[in-house]
Amino acid sequence: MSVAIASAASLMLSCGEQSCTFVVMASQTLISSLLFCIFADRPPTKFASGRSLYRPESRCCGFCSTREETGSFGARGRNRGGRSTRAAEHRAYECVQRLDQSKAERMTMAGRLNGKSSIVTGAATGIGEAIAHKFAREGAKVIVAGLPTDPVEDVVHAIRARGGVAEPFLGDVADEVDAQACIALAIDAFGRLDILINHAGVFPEIAECQDHSVEMFDYIVRNNVRSAFLMTKFALPHLKPARGVVISTGSEAGEMGEPTAAPYGGSKGFLHAFMRGVAYEQGKHGVRALCVCPGPIDTAWTHKETGPMNEQMEKQTLAGTVLGRRGTPEEMANVFAFAASDEASFVTGALIFADGGTTIAKGGPGEMVPSFVREQPKPTLDLRHSHDGLKGKPVENRMH
Ligand SMILES: NC(=O)c1ccc[n+]([C@@H]2O[C@H](COP(=O)([O-])OP(=O)(O)OC[C@H]3O[C@@H](n4cnc5c(N)ncnc54)[C@H](O)[C@@H]3O)[C@@H](O)[C@H]2O)c1
Repeated sequence: MSVAIASAASLMLSCGEQSCTFVVMASQTLISSLLFCIFADRPPTKFASGRSLYRPESRCCGFCSTREETGSFGARGRNRGGRSTRAAEHRAYECVQRLDQSKAERMTMAGRLNGKSSIVTGAATGIGEAIAHKFAREGAKVIVAGLPTDPVEDVVHAIRARGGVAEPFLGDVADEVDAQACIALAIDAFGRLDILINHAGVFPEIAECQDHSVEMFDYIVRNNVRSAFLMTKFALPHLKPARGVVISTGSEAGEMGEPTAAPYGGSKGFLHAFMRGVAYEQGKHGVRALCVCPGPIDTAWTHKETGPMNEQMEKQTLAGTVLGRRGTPEEMANVFAFAASDEASFVTGALIFADGGTTIAKGGPGEMVPSFVREQPKPTLDLRHSHDGLKGKPVENRMH
């Protein structure tokens, strides 16, 4: 894009981390109007001189992406281009830019969730533990919500030990009173709510439908469906003024036919449709809603020793991924962090599949993947409870 612009305007442009070199070859008026029009994403701003300048949201100009580069650009523009009016234009840009400073800084600084208040349910183990740590590292304040038997306090302690801000919530978010109390804690502790992550869920049984217990069906609906509905319902009045986001954890199983896990897949299919409906109706308030949909992840659920899968299902599950391996909790947390951030401001009603290609593949592509490709990336989060999630829960494999 910038190459085309440069040739059209006869520009030579070089833009690096710290500096911006700009040589003007054609008339300044032509260049200014061309560049501002091309990079504009807002209506023109009128200055005292009567000039109309477009102001991109997080750039000092079309070519620079940070405020620091503005000074560098201005100085070089004056020295090399010898155009004092250009320097003046850029000083004017800087003035206008200050209006957007906090948003621009949020998007360019390391903490992409700086200052945001968040609730993560199911945050004490597995993927949820990784989301809680990742959010805290990205600058969010986190309510770590889990069942009273989950290692919630331990995760909160670990986040605080690294300088993060976290508060524990011990309760059952599928219970109306507890769900309201969880939201109230976020408001009491942090004064607002920007992000709700409906991540709590259960996967208790592997069995074909005729053999699946009614008891475990109810258990799935309660913890996967009712929990997300209640939390969303009680969070929305607070998400509206914050123009916040609600993200539910969907699944590849909510998209594909999953033998021996049809009720679980059905509960995730509900969440996919539920988030789309919420996205539609809440869009008018600036609230986003979407699902992140993992494939097989390296938690208790996908290991035959710690979850309901038998050996055959475990093998098939991994073979079904294009990358031939489980994803890591941290790889999922990275996707949640993006989806919750302002960088995803145009992403709503979406199902973001982070599934190693499971939903686009047929057959067993994972079996053809060489072992060096199957290696998981090295973790950067210090997770202690990745495989603890099913401890103390009713877990059954009926496929013997
Ligand atoms: N692991 C996978 O392969 C996989 C794949 C797709 C989707 N998911 C989804 O990711 C989420 C977590 O999976 P995980 O593998 O990290 O499992 P996990 O068991 O480690 O985490 C789930 C957590 O939710 C908590 N929880 C359940 N019901 C709750 C309730 N009513 N109130 C409060 N806390 C509750 C559990 O105690 C547990 O700590 C689930 O929503 C699941 O459907 C997982």
